[in-house]
Amino acid sequence: MSDIESRIKIAPSILSADFANLGDEVQRVERGGADIIHYDVMDGHFVPMITVGPLVLKRLKELSRLPFSTHLMVKNPERQIKTFCEAGADYLTIHAEEAKGHLDEIIQEMDSFGVVKGIAFDLGTNPRDARYHKICEYIRDNKFDMVLILAVKAGAGGQPFNEEALKTISYIRSLNPTIPIELDGGINYIPEIREKSTAYLVAKAGAEIIVAGSKVFNPQFKQEDYQTPIQRIRAEALSGYRASRAR
Ligand code: DX5
Ligand code: ZN
Repeated sequence: MSDIESRIKIAPSILSADFANLGDEVQRVERGGADIIHYDVMDGHFVPMITVGPLVLKRLKELSRLPFSTHLMVKNPERQIKTFCEAGADYLTIHAEEAKGHLDEIIQEMDSFGVVKGIAFDLGTNPRDARYHKICEYIRDNKFDMVLILAVKAGAGGQPFNEEALKTISYIRSLNPTIPIELDGGINYIPEIREKSTAYLVAKAGAEIIVAGSKVFNPQFKQEDYQTPIQRIRAEALSGYRASRAR
């Protein structure tokens, strides 16, 4: 794999997988070429939906060698760091909207587990807002290892992509040219009209970890371990990444 190819990571979101066969679904996307498993945790408070917790994560980790990127859409995320790290989270992302007060303690605790520390912005949250000044400073100073940007409102799969996310990617890139950006929500591939492929657009804007739920876990591609959507999303993202380098 060339240097450029290894920059782009495809992370299927289990939110759109068959929950009655989650282990099988994770193993399928692993065989299908996924780089990371995106694990969406919702608590019924930060967002209305409730999904999965640390026990399911622990079991799935036994079935796959892929790293798990755990996206905590929960209130009071500082209370959940230990349990999810002990369950095997490789990346742990908390929401900026919930993290304002306790940043240093949160970072310290995450560091004590050696987890990749992610900070997320929901769609509609403007990181330029004064409330997020300290978080942005920490992003600039590499106190976080990764930034997750939502292109849909947190809480459900299958929503349309919102172009505001492209501006947020550019803003985060202007703060920190090297921090990995994980783009979550609304990812699709339309190779015939490249400018409509959101996988292309987000990579062109500067995202490297591309999360995709509904466009990967399409029953039509189940028998081939979801290889087609994973390959197509990767191809679109790679051409977006190359376009960004050509500027
Ligand atoms: C939204 C979740 C996403 C979701 C993306 O709250 O964080 O990870 O699964 O799904 P798609 O790719 O269908 O927009
Ligand atoms: Zn997510």
